[in-house]
Amino acid sequence: MKPLKMGNIEAKVPVIQGGMGIGISLGGLAGAVALEGGIGIISAAQIGYREPDFDTDTKAANLRAIKKEYEKARAIAPEGVIGFNLMVAMRHYEDYVRSAVEAGADLIVSGAGLPTDLPGIVEDAPVKLAPIVSTEKSAKVILKYWDKKYNRIPDLLVIEGPHAGGHLGFAREKLTEFDDFPVYIEEIKRILAVVKGYEEQYGKKIPTALGGGIDTPERVREAMELGVDAVQVATRFVTTKECDADIRYKNAYIEAKKEDIIIVKSPVGMPGRAINNEMIKRVAAGEKIPHSPCHRCLHRCNPAQIPYCITDALIHAAKGEIEDALLFCGANAYKAERIETVKEVIDDLKKLL
Ligand SMILES: Cc1cc2nc3c(=O)[nH]c(=O)nc-3n(C[C@H](O)[C@H](O)[C@H](O)COP(=O)(O)O)c2cc1C
Repeated sequence: MKPLKMGNIEAKVPVIQGGMGIGISLGGLAGAVALEGGIGIISAAQIGYREPDFDTDTKAANLRAIKKEYEKARAIAPEGVIGFNLMVAMRHYEDYVRSAVEAGADLIVSGAGLPTDLPGIVEDAPVKLAPIVSTEKSAKVILKYWDKKYNRIPDLLVIEGPHAGGHLGFAREKLTEFDDFPVYIEEIKRILAVVKGYEEQYGKKIPTALGGGIDTPERVREAMELGVDAVQVATRFVTTKECDADIRYKNAYIEAKKEDIIIVKSPVGMPGRAINNEMIKRVAAGEKIPHSPCHRCLHRCNPAQIPYCITDALIHAAKGEIEDALLFCGANAYKAERIETVKEVIDDLKKLL
């Protein structure tokens, strides 16, 4: 097994736990993964949802919680590699990035839009930067932009495929085309060819990670055989003891059947993958679900037009209020059969490396 090296930072186990918002991957899960030698990622999406001033001063609550969750993870894994997932689509993205860096994050993983200005925000802080891409086109755009504007390459490039959970980086048609994984493998090869060009230009390796539906040691090995250096895994970590979500959310994965996992259109316009439930059925039937006062979380959301509030629905999920929740999950969530420990999951994933 080769460790994942990003400059002076090294993770013994080349498994990155994907960021999961809202409140699914916080300090508890990220710390546990980092302690086992993987990379633990805290999701900063509306991270302050349990703070008393979340409704009145969302930004202050989120900034405070970024620090708290980082400290929690760090206390669990003093020597581990711990980072944050930050979505470009979030309002106050720059402030949250700066706060994650100040807290001490080793790594910022950023997607849900292209993190074009991320190097400018962190300047020369010693934090590793990892954009998430899903297509050759997005890989080309981000690498070219960082090269031209910042003379910088990513410290890690995360390739997120069509079987991932949460918001997906594909238009509906592409999602259908790439659902056949061998077709997506060709896209991965094209992305890796783009990466190679920049590695040659800079005379430096750009480590890559593949995510989306990787949940067994066989899948991990297949990913590595494609030429990536690590895997990004999220769904498999939801049904762990250490995952920060409510037990009812974890049980929803265990109870889900394959046919319950569907693609939904999130109020922000992107497709997402989730477990079909009462809330989704109500929305599909045309109901407009009243929402709490707007937290102004996303750039592209117009509260007057959305059928439901994504922040409300994801907070319901984290709290285990299952019927009112948007239950984001990866394509293989239905395979979960029991609650495991993070150690069991990591030991299993690395078995064939
Ligand atoms: C419940 C859930 C929430 C997620 N939330 C986010 C998020 O907030 N930001 C993000 O970039 N990716 C998010 N993802 C994507 C994961 O970080 C990861 O890349 C992907 O799900 C990997 O595929 P897998 O779940 O099949 O292992 C989420 C995934 C899940 C399952």
